[in-house]
This record gives sequence, structure tokens and C-alpha cells, in this order.
Amino acid sequence: MPKRAHLAVKLAKQATQDVLADRLRETCGTGKGKGKSVEVQLRDQAARLDIFTLKGLSASLRDWIWTLFEQNMRTLYEHSAEGYDPAEKRQELFHPDSRFLVLYSPTSADKPIGYCIFRFDTEETASDDDDELYDVAYCYEMQVDPAGQRQGAGRVLMEALERIAKAWKMDKTMLTVFKANRDAILFYERLGYTEDEVDPGNFGLDDAVDYWIMSKTVS
Ligand SMILES: CC(C)(COP(=O)(O)OP(=O)(O)OC[C@H]1O[C@@H](n2cnc3c(N)ncnc32)[C@H](O)[C@@H]1OP(=O)(O)O)[C@@H](O)C(=O)NCCC(=O)NCCS
Repeated sequence: MPKRAHLAVKLAKQATQDVLADRLRETCGTGKGKGKSVEVQLRDQAARLDIFTLKGLSASLRDWIWTLFEQNMRTLYEHSAEGYDPAEKRQELFHPDSRFLVLYSPTSADKPIGYCIFRFDTEETASDDDDELYDVAYCYEMQVDPAGQRQGAGRVLMEALERIAKAWKMDKTMLTVFKANRDAILFYERLGYTEDEVDPGNFGLDDAVDYWIMSKTVS
């Protein structure tokens, strides 16, 4: 892999939420929407997907994101090797580099039903060369309201993330998932995610960790 200045990550991080949405609109079916909003297809209905930087996120959306995270994930974290530290998790989710994709109900346009939190970043490769890095869109969180699961929302959010990764010339999309979260693993596998080359399992450490690192090359 050639050594690069990782200009793509630098530029992607600088993009405003409206610029991120513009680029997504260019690659999304209908091309409709304006400002931070992009019209997407959820199954056979039009739905709104908003993109936010941390500064653009309202207090009420922040609360909703946190509440849904706790509802879906608290028990898994409490049973995980690293345990659950809400303060640390809040800092991670609402980090200045976080970008938020929020999907709204097709039938009730002001009702958010799911979100993806990601960051543009560089990630290590499995190579011995410390200078070799991938440019990635790293999915930190992917949550759908329990009432809206298995209805295509997760797919729409991940596909939006993958389109964004492509538009900003990233190498791949990546994520970490608890091995105990079988449903999420099946979901990611269904979308084409496989074990990443830096997953501890590739270094004989599969039994030492309770998570998997998965990725998908941008095509
Ligand atoms: C995992 C999650 C994000 C998936 O979102 P979703 O909206 O329910 O998934 P979708 O309906 O978009 O499913 C997309 C595809 O994955 C498949 N899929 C989803 N969950 C699955 C499961 N448990 N088993 C098998 N396949 C599954 C669907 O069948 C669908 O395939 P298709 O489009 O070819 O029909 C959602 O269920 C969720 O929020 N779970 C709780 C939180 C969580 O675990 N988040 C992940 C943290 S790493």
C-alpha cells in the first residue's frame, strides 16, 4: 500500500454537515433534500436522513441518542470484559470528531428511528510497517429503536455510511462488535462485513477478547 499524507481524512474531517449531506445527496437515489437532510428510500417509502456534526446536534437529539444507546446496549456492556463506564461512553459518543446519521420514520417525519455515529480516521494495518495506515469511516455506534428493528433502517444507515466513505475516498468502513451480540453480527455479515485484518483473532488472540473488528472495503 502506498504511503500517503492522508489528505482525504483531513478534508473529510473538515467538512461541514451540509457539505457531508451534499456529497451524500449526489450518490443517493432521489438526490432530494437540502441542507443537512437527504431523502433516502426505506424499503419502498421516502424517509429523511440528517447528518450532524457535534455542534449541529440539538440537546433533544443528544438525549434521544443516549437513551436509545442505554436501552439497547447497557446490559451487553455490563457483561463485557471492559465493563460499563457511562461517563467514558458519553465522551466517546459525543466526541468532537463524531458525525451523526439520524434516520426518521417515513410515516412520522419528526420521529427519529435509528442512528449511526462514525468518525473519519486512519487505522493501522496488519503489516509490520508502522507507517502504513488505512483511511476509514469507523462506525462507533449503530442503533435502531427496538420498535423499528428488522424493517430495513439499519441497512439504510450502513449504506449511507458506505456511500459517505466512498465519496470521501476512504479505503474501508470498520466497526467493533461484541461477540455476544449475535444479532448484530448476523446483520453486519448480511451487509458483507468480514473480520478485519487487525482483528486480534488474526494474531492468535481470539480467546483473549470478547469483541470482533469487522470491515468492508469501499468498492
Ligand atoms: C443490529 C441493528 C442495528 C440492525 O438494524 P435493523 O434495522 O434491525 O436491520 P435491517 O432490518 O436493516 O436488516 C438488514 C439486513 O440484515 C438482516 N438482519 C438483521 N438482523 C438480523 C438477525 N438478527 N439475524 C439475521 N439477519 C438479520 C436482515 O434480514 C436484513 O437482510 P435483508 O435486507 O437482506 O432482508 C438493530 O437490530 C439494532 O439496533 N440492534 C440493537 C443494537 C445493536 O446491537 N447495535 C449494534 C452494535 S455493534
